[in-house]
Amino acid sequence: MTSQTLREARTYEEASEKFIKKEDRPDFHLSTRTGWLNDPNGFSYYKGEYHMFYQYHPYDSHWGPMHWGHAVSKDLLHWEYLPAALAPDEYYDRDGCFSGSAIELPDGRQLLMYTGVIKERQKSGGFCEVQTQCLAVGDGRDYEKYENNPVLDEKDLPEGSSRFDFRDPKMWRKEDGTYCCVIGSRPADGSGQILLYTSEDGFHWRFKKILVSNNNRFGKMWECPDFFMLDGKAVLLTSPQDMLPQGFEYHNGNGTLCLIGDFDEETDTFTEQHNQSIDYGIDFYAPQTILTPDGRRVMIGWMQNWDTCGGHTDQEHLWFGQMSLPREIFIKNGRLYQKPIRELEDMRSGRVEYQSVPVAGTVNLEGIKGRKVDMELSIWPEDEKNVYHKFSVRFAQNAQYQTSVSFRPKESVLKIDRKFSGSRRAVIHQRRSKIKHENGRLKLRLILDQFSAEIFVNDGEQVMTATMYTERAADGISFCADGEVRMDVVKYDLI
Ligand code: FRU
Repeated sequence: MTSQTLREARTYEEASEKFIKKEDRPDFHLSTRTGWLNDPNGFSYYKGEYHMFYQYHPYDSHWGPMHWGHAVSKDLLHWEYLPAALAPDEYYDRDGCFSGSAIELPDGRQLLMYTGVIKERQKSGGFCEVQTQCLAVGDGRDYEKYENNPVLDEKDLPEGSSRFDFRDPKMWRKEDGTYCCVIGSRPADGSGQILLYTSEDGFHWRFKKILVSNNNRFGKMWECPDFFMLDGKAVLLTSPQDMLPQGFEYHNGNGTLCLIGDFDEETDTFTEQHNQSIDYGIDFYAPQTILTPDGRRVMIGWMQNWDTCGGHTDQEHLWFGQMSLPREIFIKNGRLYQKPIRELEDMRSGRVEYQSVPVAGTVNLEGIKGRKVDMELSIWPEDEKNVYHKFSVRFAQNAQYQTSVSFRPKESVLKIDRKFSGSRRAVIHQRRSKIKHENGRLKLRLILDQFSAEIFVNDGEQVMTATMYTERAADGISFCADGEVRMDVVKYDLI
């Protein structure tokens, strides 16, 4: 039975998406059907299609009572909207259906697990959100909430953990046919932990153990965990709130964290060996991964960040929120590497190539411009003994606006800067990252899709992502060096 609340959302989204022109959206990044989008939810492959659900407030371009939006795709790049899947319409989720995940049951139905939220008045006067885990079962289009919801609540928490911060279940099915899920939680020390739960049938869940404790190392509450094996290693992805900066690795506020280590299946013990940011840019948060039918681990994140996304008005944006590119991830030299999903190469057209171009001062190259672009650059110093000071690529550029990525080899720092992108808000516009390089040799791959830039550094060793809502007519690209640089460049339009 579809509730009144869900019916209203479905009617509303269908009517209001017509006001958004196709050219005012990104092309191959999934954006919200209408209104507001945050985290990817229920990212899965089901009945021959990729499914992406998302945190969704259809009624305006700001966060509000959370629904689950829904879209499907054959290639993860061309998306088709489906009617909203979940609405906050039950006593246990009346203030929001927060993030969660999806799996296929042996009988062919799709199972969603999400966080149900209810606001509870506190003695002190304010409200706190009580969070529990809930299920819904469906056929890839319509979903029925489970009669015994919630399936996990405060009784299933380890001692001292908060019932107000218990969210974002990510499930998977094990080879033996049983199920596991990881959930973000806040222990008594006020920082984060990841809890592991197990189930025989997907419906009855029990607490297994604390998989990883933050111990106040990386921010506070850990949101949106994902846990999987990759290239023989165990990987935990999570998005910590309230981070303090650590060098150029982690920045203030909401961040992303990847822990890599070993996992002992007998005892469910994770031994941490390495930590790093997932993305080093401005706008990337709460990623989820799937295993594709051909065995690739693919990750998509919310291409915004809580600290930088509140400044827009509903007049400026009929829609707000988009997903990152799907990225194939792998482990190399003990680190997380990312590459744009290979299907993107099928969208390439109009190859333009230049080899060994001298860059000193500003250089524009015939045929190199656009806002839907895949561009690979390789740079090196003209004189190995006299390395350049700075090299930059400017894009989304016209006489007034530009966004840039620049590299200073002597500091080994790569910086993305959207200060001049047209933003009128005093949010963060720049971010820096430490980069490995040999004497100023650097490889960059830049993917533009109207309102975003994703920069893959040195074959995916690091990625910097940022949105820029510059007017579409600003489609210039130029190269600039302080010192003398040589550059190979290959550029494609993405259509
Ligand atoms: C992360 C998050 C999740 C929560 C959702 C609410 O971005 O805060 O922890 O489930 O957003 O929309």
